[in-house]
Amino acid sequence: MSEPELRVCLHESELDAALRFDARLGLTSDPKHLPMRLHYDGRGAALFGELTRQPEYYLTRCERQILASHADEIAEVLATESGTGGFESPMGAPVSVVELGAGAAEKIRVVLDALNRDGLLESFWPFDVDAGSVREVIAELGRAYPDIRLGGIIGDFTVHLQHLPDDHHTRLVAFLGGTFGNFRSMERGQFLRDLRDALRPGDWFMVGADLVKDPEVLLAAYNDAAGVTAEFDRNVLHVLNHRLGGDFEPENFEHLALWDEDATTIEMRLRALKPMEVDLPALGLSIAFAAGEEVHTGVSVKFHAEELEDQLRAAGFRPEHRWSDPGGRFGVFLARVA
Ligand code: AVJ
Repeated sequence: MSEPELRVCLHESELDAALRFDARLGLTSDPKHLPMRLHYDGRGAALFGELTRQPEYYLTRCERQILASHADEIAEVLATESGTGGFESPMGAPVSVVELGAGAAEKIRVVLDALNRDGLLESFWPFDVDAGSVREVIAELGRAYPDIRLGGIIGDFTVHLQHLPDDHHTRLVAFLGGTFGNFRSMERGQFLRDLRDALRPGDWFMVGADLVKDPEVLLAAYNDAAGVTAEFDRNVLHVLNHRLGGDFEPENFEHLALWDEDATTIEMRLRALKPMEVDLPALGLSIAFAAGEEVHTGVSVKFHAEELEDQLRAAGFRPEHRWSDPGGRFGVFLARVA
């Protein structure tokens, strides 16, 4: 196989500038806010992995179960409906798969395996801000799929979608893990339109999304009894301490998860347990917190399946398939560019 093609849309220095921008803007706003992407340094990623294994956090297990149960069917749909006219094999035309926010590309593997078994996998492209994981995934999958073309995109999928690979095969863009729910409504619409513009008619979009359910179940998932989500949330303060020389005392903030019934959204907050003055020398900032003041640390939108499909339609996609776990907790949606 030829050398993997790496598309580097983002460099370390830009990530550093983005962190400073987000921290300065978020901590000087009212209410204060720190975006969820700041949580994921090495420790944050490890804590996130641990939270996905907590008994209350059903999302990861449900999505894995859905993909494992339906991978063959997904491959079949892609095979029978992806024909570009003319050259398909009896099995159908091969597809090039891109995974947004791939991380270690664990979630997509069952789908890649099913496609590969049927001779339908043309190429695979992890897309992630973390250059290290993109390179590792390429190396690892190179061993698992010696005959498949591999590439990678190091970038931010809210900015760099125009750099998706275009090798004239039908593309499947997968966005798994429920990360789609971390956009607020305007960002979500923008993301879908940008993705639509980056694709051609006939390309596919597969998205995993958490569904509206009993608020008790939802709240428990974002405030597990072992306190792993709380520690993950407070990690953003550790990140600011390490990267910007801050002197946050993370133990003086408590994690809250709130359910907004009208917006069907889980809101995450860090609440100051006492008045504090925090210095961030790298930004030349000193930030005051009142006792009880809440910092917004992210949202996780929960969807009604029909509303999510309406949003896909509004952006120019045609929803064609939907799979759920037996409890109906989580959904995997497959849509086609109209
Ligand atoms: C992986 C981003 C989807 O919103 O459920 C979980 C992130 N944050 N608990 C989610 C998260 C706190 C998670 N996503």
